[in-house]
Amino acid sequence: MAATILITGTNGLVGFRILTTALEAGHNVRFAVRSEDKARIVSSNPAVQKLAPGDRLSAVVIPDFTIQGAFDSALEGVTHIIHTGSPVPMPWYDPYKDIFEPTRKMCSNILSSALKTPGIKSVVITSSIVGNLGSVPPAHVVSAATRLPLPDPIPQTFKDGYEAYIIGKIVQLHDTDTFVREKKPPFGVANIVPGYVYGRNELALTVEAMGQSNSSNNAIIQGVTGGEMAFPVHMGFVHIDDIAEIHLRAAFLDREPNSDVSKDFGVARKVDYDTVWGYVEKAFPKAIQDGVLKKGNVPSLDFQYDSSDAEKLMDGKLKSFETAVLDVVGQYLEVSGREKA
Ligand SMILES: NC(=O)c1ccc[n+]([C@@H]2O[C@H](COP(=O)([O-])OP(=O)(O)OC[C@H]3O[C@@H](n4cnc5c(N)ncnc54)[C@H](OP(=O)(O)O)[C@@H]3O)[C@@H](O)[C@H]2O)c1
Repeated sequence: MAATILITGTNGLVGFRILTTALEAGHNVRFAVRSEDKARIVSSNPAVQKLAPGDRLSAVVIPDFTIQGAFDSALEGVTHIIHTGSPVPMPWYDPYKDIFEPTRKMCSNILSSALKTPGIKSVVITSSIVGNLGSVPPAHVVSAATRLPLPDPIPQTFKDGYEAYIIGKIVQLHDTDTFVREKKPPFGVANIVPGYVYGRNELALTVEAMGQSNSSNNAIIQGVTGGEMAFPVHMGFVHIDDIAEIHLRAAFLDREPNSDVSKDFGVARKVDYDTVWGYVEKAFPKAIQDGVLKKGNVPSLDFQYDSSDAEKLMDGKLKSFETAVLDVVGQYLEVSGREKA
């Protein structure tokens, strides 16, 4: 029987690429979004249309993912789940209501609906390296298997959205560990733990979207359009094509059923943001000469991360930072109607 993958977060940077990668691999995809409008944005996107998925692609609209049982009927006939849709901090978000609470509730809802659904083979959950690192990266090496202590008591208020995001990811990893340990589910569970994700974002169809609705790619855009990131960016990266493939490989791994541990893959390879401008100077001299590209500033935060589990899963073939930078900047020039030179 062909696999049917339910994917969340498909109207966002990472989830959309997972969706197109899954379609390219021949899977059936059911994507869960919060409104019909968001479903249309995904299914009418030129990158999806180009794949002509026909009835291999369907949308399910769930207005509130945080309601218990919200996924019960959406999972009928589904074989694999990739849960990527989760808030990333925005200045206008309420830290508890819009970030911490949905991060936690959506994930536990999906896991409990999966437990009630016969035929689920795996649940893959997108986490973040901040779940292993906390707010201040430690001096020692951490990996996807690292767990920080569960805050006691679990906070109900946060100083800002970023703190809510970090604690949300820490608590989500603990909640998932507890679920797997206590329920020993018949399906495999994997946490995928990315550093900053960069690469083409097919959802960004305008210059404005490239700068404003482009999640982590915004760091690269700032760095090449004379901007400055308001906060330091972790020096660990993964190319968007690789993180999509890692999610799919993790979903289709052979596993012992009823295991009491998840299998986690983290990837945050060390980069130096000072190299960004050099890559751009070499590839796009005309755009610099024309004043379309200008050197900006990306302050960064150092840390040590062991990505070997994900590298092994990918047979050692991970795309370079230079490729990611040129993909993002090349797309920026494309949507600006400029020559890629
Ligand atoms: N991009 C990175 O560098 C990076 C690095 C590490 C980890 N991650 C993780 O990757 C995942 C996706 O990030 P992204 O970069 O793709 O972000 P993004 O472009 O902002 O997309 C976020 C996605 O999550 C969905 N979402 C957010 N809040 C939701 C809610 N309350 N209920 C239902 N859906 C909700 C959004 O849908 P709506 O439009 O309905 O809100 C959207 O589809 C997140 O878990 C993030 O923590 C990303």
